Amino acid sequence: ELAKQKNKMNKQRELQKIAEEIQECKVCKINKSGLAVPGEGNPNAKIMFIGEAPGKQESLTGRPFVGRSGRFLTSLLNSIGIKREDVYITSPAKYFPGYRAPTNAEIAHGREHLQKQIKIISSKLIVLLGNVAARGVLRRSFMVSKFHGQLLKENGQDLFFTFHPSAALRFPKIRTLIKSDFKKLSKLL
Ligand code: URA
Repeated sequence: ELAKQKNKMNKQRELQKIAEEIQECKVCKINKSGLAVPGEGNPNAKIMFIGEAPGKQESLTGRPFVGRSGRFLTSLLNSIGIKREDVYITSPAKYFPGYRAPTNAEIAHGREHLQKQIKIISSKLIVLLGNVAARGVLRRSFMVSKFHGQLLKENGQDLFFTFHPSAALRFPKIRTLIKSDFKKLSKLL
């Protein structure tokens, strides 16, 4: 138990170092305003959730998924008995890109930070919320709509795909699908 606590503190310290690296990163900042949103959660999380990019609310607080999509994500987690504070949440892009998706160049750059976070946390499972998250981790374009609800092992890492919560808020059909994906996810845990 003591060893576990010590390990958690070391991970927390390493994640803090990456967060500072992100906050000081000049490439991340190009054409952006607002705060960096490095990510947050349990350094020992068994599951990591990866989104797309911070929104306006996130850019004002520096915290991931605190707006409308975030409330929906939290409710999806709670619906399968997971507490938000037990998982780790971040995204490939660390700044609000404005009202557009991050570009491929932004995703490719963000991956440098993201990969370090993934390595430190070493969660059993990574849940990719939407195509940007999938591209951020897989380094290739990926149709989440085709592979949602499925598990893929890539380089020894278990990945689970579903939609981005904001897509589910816009489209009732996707809302139904994301809920059933989370049920599948709960069965994998
Ligand atoms: N959407 C994301 O993908 N990430 C956030 O932090 C907020 C909304």
